[in-house]
Amino acid sequence: MTEQTLVLIKPDGVARGLVGEIITRIERKGLKIAALKLVNVSEELAAQHYAEHAEKPFFGSLIEFITSGPVVAAVLEGPRGIAAFRQIAGGTDPVEKAVPGSIRGDYALETQYNLVHGSDSPESAKREISLWFPEFTL
Ligand code: CMP
Repeated sequence: MTEQTLVLIKPDGVARGLVGEIITRIERKGLKIAALKLVNVSEELAAQHYAEHAEKPFFGSLIEFITSGPVVAAVLEGPRGIAAFRQIAGGTDPVEKAVPGSIRGDYALETQYNLVHGSDSPESAKREISLWFPEFTL
């Protein structure tokens, strides 16, 4: 079943010049780019996006980081698209969880600076796509 997922290339990925590399991996996997844009993230958008982490000790630094520079936001589409992107991203902790060959496993060292975000469920995807691409109808 075709699924949509919201993907972000976070400020570390943009600042390090990894946008092309990450998009190449997305395209090689076979995921279709249905929408793509560069975004300067407001505090409001950041807080809405990460609302489920509001009580976590790292919430403040998460918001500070995601608003620290432009991010690339995309809607990807494909069969099992949510899981497919999470597979090529690798686990959240780039050293303990992400395997070599994944985006995080190959290019990241710290959980906060883990280069990419991908929706974790169809419900999150729907919520996040409407947040980042209000103009985009599912
Ligand atoms: P992401 O997929 O964007 O969703 C929540 C983010 O919080 C996660 O990726 C990490 O970047 C970040 N995160 C999760 N756990 C920690 C942690 N222990 N310390 C700092 N950041 C974290």
